[in-house]
Amino acid sequence: MAHSHDNEGFPALLSDEVASDPYAFYRRLREERPLHYDGETNSYLVTRHATVSSSYRNPAFSTKNYEWQMEPVFGRTLLQMEGTEHSRKRALVSPWFRGRGLENWMPVIMRNVSTILDGLVERNVEELAGRFVSGTEVDLIAEFAHYLPVYVISDTLALPKSDTQMFWGWYQALIAFLSNLKKDPDVHQRGLDAHDEIRAYLAPIIAERRANPGNDLISALIVAEVDGERLDDEEIGTHATQILNAGSETTDKTLGSLFGHLLTNRENFEAVRDDRSLVTAAIGETLRVTPPSQMNGRILSEDVELEGETVPAGSWVNLVMASANRDERRFANSELFDLFRTDMDHSKAFTASGEHFAFGYGRHFCLGAMLAKSEMEISLNLMLDRFPDMRLADGFVPQAKGLKMRAPDQMRVVL
Ligand code: HEM
Repeated sequence: MAHSHDNEGFPALLSDEVASDPYAFYRRLREERPLHYDGETNSYLVTRHATVSSSYRNPAFSTKNYEWQMEPVFGRTLLQMEGTEHSRKRALVSPWFRGRGLENWMPVIMRNVSTILDGLVERNVEELAGRFVSGTEVDLIAEFAHYLPVYVISDTLALPKSDTQMFWGWYQALIAFLSNLKKDPDVHQRGLDAHDEIRAYLAPIIAERRANPGNDLISALIVAEVDGERLDDEEIGTHATQILNAGSETTDKTLGSLFGHLLTNRENFEAVRDDRSLVTAAIGETLRVTPPSQMNGRILSEDVELEGETVPAGSWVNLVMASANRDERRFANSELFDLFRTDMDHSKAFTASGEHFAFGYGRHFCLGAMLAKSEMEISLNLMLDRFPDMRLADGFVPQAKGLKMRAPDQMRVVL
């Protein structure tokens, strides 16, 4: 594929135009140019469902990009491993994210949701004591979605709650590093600093757990063994760092988007409130229409045919989940949040079935999908129980921000 002109009539991926409405850009690409080369980022965008699906499963789409996108701040994660190294290391961690491991976490999730919600309600009650109003205004993102995943994860790793402020600082720096398509040097440096700080923080904790293993995920990683394979301190530090990050920002953003969808068209909120069998659909549909992580990068290890053209080995290809999930070739009224759609099996929305790609697909399918599902289901059910009259704050319109990671940054509601 020759590139005589950059972008050829399409806005640049990093332009303000795309930032303000990436879905309009992706819609145009799906229709007019399903394989698109973006000059500024020197990357290809793949935007149709069928092609994103086959690309995830094609071994020529390597995850080498994580060597520079992730390794400097996380260490060598599962995401950049391939083949048997990947399957062996993943097998050491995965029991914790499925079946028995997850059941063990359920009470932890319950406890966190209640603590946060109680705190949130109490704070509002105190603030508004003496006023006879049925609802108070809160920012669900700043006061709820932001806390829950990081609390759950610090509990699973058995790290003190008092350290969550530090975790936020670190994960924001790491996610910014990961999303740094513009290659801002300050963002880059903050990511590297965060890496050093996390490792310095974790080193004595890992040493202590080696001596006295407990019930937590760090201890489990220390004692885990599959086919004689064990993890060293460096790998445990990497897993802990990745889990802290992979599980925080994504779940945080999805929770924000979930309430945005339900409350923007309040009949959706009422439908789910009055029929809890729709809770799973609400979360699945949120992930489909507004996946928090909007694209996954890959590097081609050989020449690949895509949409009738040959893309050369070594190319950087972005699989745009945010677009594939809205492909009108796959879903009817594809851009509409529809609790009742029949062309997505919501019971499979959290499995590697390829209905939508919010959790990726194929070998690197999200390890935390079931945990994320539990966090969101429990949160939503509890909120619906306690605040059946919840609505968006007057005049507030949710605004999604970001390109690689995208979600509203505020969700002002009246409880
Ligand atoms: C709504 C919440 C979440 C979303 C949307 C999400 C999204 C993703 C995506 C798109 C990938 C694949 C990346 C790629 O192929 O390049 C992934 C991988 C991964 N996720 Fe999640 N994630 C979520 C929650 C979590 C949680 C809660 C955890 C852990 C506590 C987690 C841990 C991981 C890990 C370890 C991988 C790498 C798996 C591998 O390489 O084999 N995620 N996630």
